[in-house]
Amino acid sequence: MSVIQRSIQVAYGLRVYFTQAAFDPANLVIKGLLTGNAPARTAKALVVVDESLAQAQPALIRQIEAYFAAHADALNLACTPMIVEGGERTKNSYFHVSEIHSHIDRYHIDRHAYVLAVGGGALLDMVGLAAATAHRGVRHVRIPTTTLAQCDSGVGVKNGINAFGKKNFIGTFAPPFAVVNDFQMLASLSPRDKRAGYAEAVKVASIRDAEFFAELERDAARLCEFDPAAIQHLIHRCAELHLDHIATSGDPFETGSARPLDFGHWSAHKLEQLSEYKIRHGEAVAIGLALDTIYSRDAGHLDAGSAERVLKLLEALGFELFASELLHTDSENGLLVLEGLEEFREHLGGELTITLLNAIGHGFEVHEMNLPRVIRAIDELRERHRGRARKIVRASA
Ligand SMILES: NC(=O)c1ccc[n+]([C@@H]2O[C@H](COP(=O)([O-])OP(=O)(O)OC[C@H]3O[C@@H](n4cnc5c(N)ncnc54)[C@H](O)[C@@H]3O)[C@@H](O)[C@H]2O)c1
Ligand SMILES: [Zn+2]
Repeated sequence: MSVIQRSIQVAYGLRVYFTQAAFDPANLVIKGLLTGNAPARTAKALVVVDESLAQAQPALIRQIEAYFAAHADALNLACTPMIVEGGERTKNSYFHVSEIHSHIDRYHIDRHAYVLAVGGGALLDMVGLAAATAHRGVRHVRIPTTTLAQCDSGVGVKNGINAFGKKNFIGTFAPPFAVVNDFQMLASLSPRDKRAGYAEAVKVASIRDAEFFAELERDAARLCEFDPAAIQHLIHRCAELHLDHIATSGDPFETGSARPLDFGHWSAHKLEQLSEYKIRHGEAVAIGLALDTIYSRDAGHLDAGSAERVLKLLEALGFELFASELLHTDSENGLLVLEGLEEFREHLGGELTITLLNAIGHGFEVHEMNLPRVIRAIDELRERHRGRARKIVRASA
């Protein structure tokens, strides 16, 4: 036997720009990005816009067209922006990926051209998959338009769609060419979607950054009222912590068995699925964080005061920490949410690896979960929820 072996090193740059009014012709961030590599050449782009965003901001499509027209010397809009359904439904079939592939083919988007996706995390995941697989990868610029996508999903290196009833079953690791976070895009978001992203900030602060956690506690009331400066700070720090992790963890493409930034996610992904995606990703993450925080405390890893701080912060930000889907059972009366553990393991393969807390700002990994203890944590969340509901009834009586 013989073997030829070489090591291949590929360096990626990950850039997240923070700006306002990205499609104002006076804003040169997108123009600079698309033409940066070859200023003498016209940069061609296919733009895909989230349908709910296009409805909520009716002037947006015209603004995008006007932006490209104003910079026609350097930019070429391949066709009228595609308007594609956003939200989880966009990830639940292959249809839209194929639709984008067909536009990439028809309008000759090559590997020096760009696919810009403007929308929520679900749309970005779906378009990211289409861009990563056409011609084995065309340049992809993400313009996230939800809090969650600006602070977490849109700034990472993963894309995907759901299949076989499992989240992100079909997907790739493909760092985007760049990400442009335009804070004004969030103006038309529903309060529910503005809030949902806060859960990812609590997640990353809980496992990585006690100071950021304290800032979130301090800003909770302002965040609840959607104070722009408080939201911008949350997004900036949360995105920075995610980028730090991707750049320095040593495993950006998750080849091992650990997903450290997926604290609280084993149950969250299952809850999203059990609710038929009526529970938003961020809302499910808030419940998942609460569950694994109580579990961390009951397993003796986390002191009761710190656990209560996590639960209180989530509640102060306006999250419900219980959903009836936690109690859905199979024909043998087993809790369906527990299947999330095995599905979580199987997504990466290898050993089950769950992140727990042993202090605010400090996550660590375990390879086993005690099921009776998980069930006790679910019971506690149900009791806490009932207690809060009783208090609200008493207060309004
Ligand atoms: N790739 C990753 O690393 C990663 C990480 C975390 C989450 N995710 C994925 O992200 C998705 C959740 O993303 P999300 O929380 O952004 O929700 P979302 O994409 O489902 O968007 C929520 C809703 O808001 C609409 N919308 C988006 N922007 C809007 C705007 N500015 N104004 C009005 N409406 C707007 C969307 O059409 C949708 O109906 C999930 O599929 C989750 O699995 C991916
Ligand atoms: Zn998440």
